[in-house]
This record gives sequence, C-alpha cells and structure tokens, in this order.
Amino acid sequence: MAAAPIIVAIDGPAAAGKGTIARRLAAHFNLAYLDTGSLYRQVGFLVLEAGGDPSEGEDAVAAARAIFGRSFEDQRLRTQAVADAAARVAAIPEVRAALIEAQRRFGTTPPLLPDGKPPKGVVVDGRDIGTVIFPEAGIKLFITASPEERARRRHQELMDRGISANFGEVLEEVRARDELDATRPVSPLKQASDAHLLDTTDLSIEAAFEAARDIVAATV
Ligand code: C5P
Repeated sequence: MAAAPIIVAIDGPAAAGKGTIARRLAAHFNLAYLDTGSLYRQVGFLVLEAGGDPSEGEDAVAAARAIFGRSFEDQRLRTQAVADAAARVAAIPEVRAALIEAQRRFGTTPPLLPDGKPPKGVVVDGRDIGTVIFPEAGIKLFITASPEERARRRHQELMDRGISANFGEVLEEVRARDELDATRPVSPLKQASDAHLLDTTDLSIEAAFEAARDIVAATV
C-alpha cells in the first residue's frame, strides 16, 4: 500500500507570514498547496456581489455552495472588504460545514503538481487546519507575530500596491479580525496542542521560512 500523504497543517492569524511560508514549503518539499482563506474569501465575495449580508446564514450558505469552479486567484478576493466579509461568513457553522469535505478531499487526493508529477502530500493553511480539518496531520505549525508587526507588514504591502492606508486603521483592522476569528464559538483560531509555535515578529521572511523548513524536514 502507498504511504499516507504527508499533511502539513498551518494555522495562525492574518498577516503572520503563513501564506508565504506555506507556498515556499510546498515548493521545497514537492507538496500541493491549499490556501483555505481563499475559500472563505470567495464565499464573502459572492455574498457582497449579490448585495447580501455576510452575517446572514441563508445568503452565506447559498454562496458557500456556489464557490467551486471559480477562480481563487482573482485579485478581487484580496481587498479588506472581502477579508472582513470572509471573517463574518466563517463564523457561520453551516458555511464551515459546507467547506469541510472539499478541504479533506484535497488532503487525501491532492492535485498533480505544476510539473505534472503527483505530490507526496499537501500543505494546507488557515485557522482550523490542525484543530478541525486535519487533527491527525503529521506536522502542525502555528505561525504568529505581534499585531503591530502584522499591521506594519499589511500596511507596507498596501503601500507597495500603490494603495494609501493609515497605519492606525490597519492595526485596528488586524485586531478586529483577530477578535472575530479567536472568539467565534465554531472552529475558533487557536494553536493545536501538538503544533510547533513559530513567532515571526523578529524574523525576516527568509529566516521564518528556514525555521519552518527545518521543523518539516525533521519529520518527513
Ligand atoms: O487567511 P485569510 O486572511 O485569507 O482568511 C480570511 C478569513 O477567512 C479569516 O479572517 C477567517 O475568518 C476565515 N478563515 C477561517 N478558517 C480558515 C481560513 C480562513 O475561518 N481555515
């Protein structure tokens, strides 16, 4: 029988460096990558586009059933308004339930890599990957950084994209999303008891990747 696919589960708050580290780990270890935040963003986006209310169960569940087959690379998913709508739909238990199966299927039958080869497993990032989606994952990372440092990075990213933003407002948004994600009753953001903690506050992206790579390499 073939070995079970490697599952690297990555959780943490917004702008802690999860996505960049997850992508680089996937490329380094020949693993397929799933950004689960983009699923919730797609749901939030569809609700907003239809003129609905992201906190309203019926609107959000209908959107959750309609996301598959759409582009998850769409830049319109990257706005602050969509991030906020994503955090609201993500607090609705029926929305989370509608997205569980697709996430687990990605782990058991991952897609081929861009070079056409089958991956040895997957890297999946989000808020509840090590706690709810893949509690049995062989490797779990909880990647975090101080709210001020995460706001600084987000602010810099916006400026790099030519979008003017006020640092205080960005910090407030970071804190508001932390609060929504960590206090919701269903699948709140929290570190799994068997996750490795990686605090990137004082690390360059290169140093953070290397630390994550060493943790994964020690297990695979
Ligand atoms: O990671 P990203 O910032 O794209 O996620 C957007 C929002 O989607 C998060 O603030 C969170 O509320 C929600 N989310 C979630 N569970 C996941 C991934 C994202 O609740 N696994």
